[in-house]
Amino acid sequence: MNTIKNIQDQILKLKKEHDICILAHAYQSQDIWEIADFVGDSYGLSQQAAKSHQKTVLLCGVRFMAETVKILSPEKKVLLSHPQAGCPMAQQISPAKLAALKETYPGYTVAAYINTTSELKTLCDVCVTSSSAVKIIRNLENQNILFIPDCNLGAWIARQVPEKNLQLVTGGCPAHASVHKTDVEQMRCLYPDAKLLVHPECLPEVTDQADYVGSTTGIMEYAKNSSAKSFIIGTENSIVQHLQFSCPDRQFYALSKDCVCSNMKLTTLMDVYHCVQGTGGEEIVLSDDVMTKARRCIDTMLTLG
Ligand code: 13P
Ligand code: SF4
Repeated sequence: MNTIKNIQDQILKLKKEHDICILAHAYQSQDIWEIADFVGDSYGLSQQAAKSHQKTVLLCGVRFMAETVKILSPEKKVLLSHPQAGCPMAQQISPAKLAALKETYPGYTVAAYINTTSELKTLCDVCVTSSSAVKIIRNLENQNILFIPDCNLGAWIARQVPEKNLQLVTGGCPAHASVHKTDVEQMRCLYPDAKLLVHPECLPEVTDQADYVGSTTGIMEYAKNSSAKSFIIGTENSIVQHLQFSCPDRQFYALSKDCVCSNMKLTTLMDVYHCVQGTGGEEIVLSDDVMTKARRCIDTMLTLG
């Protein structure tokens, strides 16, 4: 009978034979973390995509992440671990809607959260991720910035960079936006000594009450380096499990049982196995025009971030 361990061993052997680099987002499961070359937040994944030397990159995460890898490494074969794994936020603004917004706000710099389609990125000036957003927005020359599509992340950035005028639009992550201040009240009541660590995709009524707001990697680093013994985690609930696993002497609690990303959960270890075997995943194909134009705003992000 196959075990997780021997499937992992076969993946490691096949990925070496076929010269494949595996990049996994932090929301992937522990069995996938263990066979990945790199695990991290969206910014870390973008940096690794530009650095990896293998001919093929397998991205375990969601579609916009695999598209970012392809744009940064057009000469490589890039596979998305599960063809149906998309980020619903990436679809919230169409190119036509953005064109109309640009007419309403002429002269504004358009900053897009990286959770957007490549097509939309061709119409934007710069991308940001949750870990790089504050620094990048602060470093932009323009005072006026149109920020799309996550108004919760946008509101958090606006509070950190009050000298900029950020115009926000309605949009955001359904999983993080499902968490409310009543969840905070309930969990603070149950665990009064715990630190509250949340992702900036959460509603302002949640981020306002946090001890720390940051990316998935930022949350994990904060918890590992803190002297506190217990933590309430306000991001996708896989991070609670990863922290429990890496810091068994501390307690981690999910801020809400509903903060679950069904798209991130689609990829299984067997999907990874089929990808490295050559029978699974989806190869990312983008037109040269889209790649060239979308790359500008990703490169600006990597330079400013
Ligand atoms: P990070 O950049 O923090 O990993 O966020 C990506 C994401 O999709 C969070 O929901
Ligand atoms: Fe998109 Fe939210 Fe899932 Fe992140 S957690 S991939 S923002 S739906």
